[in-house]
Amino acid sequence: MDFLVWDEIKMNEKYLNRITFGDCIDNIPHLTDDSIDLFLSDIPYGINLDDWDVLHNNTNSALLGKSPAQEGKTGFKRRGKPINGWSQADRNIGMEYQEWCNNWASKVYQKMKKGSFLFVFGARRTIHRVINAFEDSGFLLKDTMAWKKPSAHHRAQRVSIVLERRGLTEEAKKWDGWRLGNLAPIWEPIAWFMKPYKIGGTITDNILENEVGAMNIGECKLNGSCPTNLLQFGFRRNEKRTHEAQKPLDLIEYLIKLTTREEQIVLDPFMGSGTTAIAAINMNRKFIGFEINQDFYEKSLLRIEEAESKSGLECLPVFQQTLFNANDYNPPAKERGK
Ligand SMILES: C[S@@+](CC[C@H](N)C(=O)[O-])C[C@H]1O[C@@H](n2cnc3c(N)ncnc32)[C@H](O)[C@@H]1O
Repeated sequence: MDFLVWDEIKMNEKYLNRITFGDCIDNIPHLTDDSIDLFLSDIPYGINLDDWDVLHNNTNSALLGKSPAQEGKTGFKRRGKPINGWSQADRNIGMEYQEWCNNWASKVYQKMKKGSFLFVFGARRTIHRVINAFEDSGFLLKDTMAWKKPSAHHRAQRVSIVLERRGLTEEAKKWDGWRLGNLAPIWEPIAWFMKPYKIGGTITDNILENEVGAMNIGECKLNGSCPTNLLQFGFRRNEKRTHEAQKPLDLIEYLIKLTTREEQIVLDPFMGSGTTAIAAINMNRKFIGFEINQDFYEKSLLRIEEAESKSGLECLPVFQQTLFNANDYNPPAKERGK
């Protein structure tokens, strides 16, 4: 083996099968070019869910408890701000989120194998920014799937109550039954991209050369049927929850199984509680991951330790997702009330 190839393998070795504490944007350039088989990441959605989700330069916006209206109201802080914004600068948040995505997606491009797949989780309101950033970085959009959750909170303020608080009794009666906000958010988008392979080549040639770009339908049938792009998965009964944006292991394992072979490398630069790492371990795949928040990072290490020792109950699937009969779906009693 010549020195150049060996040095490149060593570049990934430093990161392989571990979550690295730090900023992925600084670390991704150190990965080996054309080495990643699958990118699977639940990236920050840019909807100001928490400090780590504020990805714009807007300093005068009243985010995360900074406005007088938010003073002392933690519930309000977590719900975010009205979509209308409180200053003109708030209207740039989407564009600035897209620039942030573009900054690292262009770095990821070099690291992916030709013809490899990328699954990027996003928010219904901001996924178009992610798609633009990934397309501008050279990736091709293959599909947009929906992850359907077992249940969703309906947080829509009653207009009549707001009016009553203002003493507008007649108007409150008129608006009885009307609400502000959205319908219960039962699904989240997952953008599915592909890194292009060489023009003039065929997808089969590329599969032979790079071992990526096909779907393992044979092992991903549920109830004997081929999968649809509506993915219906929930948390296992004993799955530990340590991150507010944590994704179900079953969902992540499914996407890994669908698109990779054993021993292939899955990259997740935004690991959170380490769900992608646990799923990769459970599926005998290699992984590379990053996490910038020390608390999440430490918790992810504990989860990995448990998964590796198989002492964690989360390694045992306890309820089978029902992908293909969404209408019949009956969440476990515990989840129904959420
Ligand atoms: C949506 S959460 C991921 C949750 C994860 N899917 C799970 O199941 O726990 C995104 C994570 O990305 C992390 N993050 C944000 N910016 C980052 C960066 N530049 N480098 C590494 N991690 C980052 C955040 O701290 C957060 O934990």
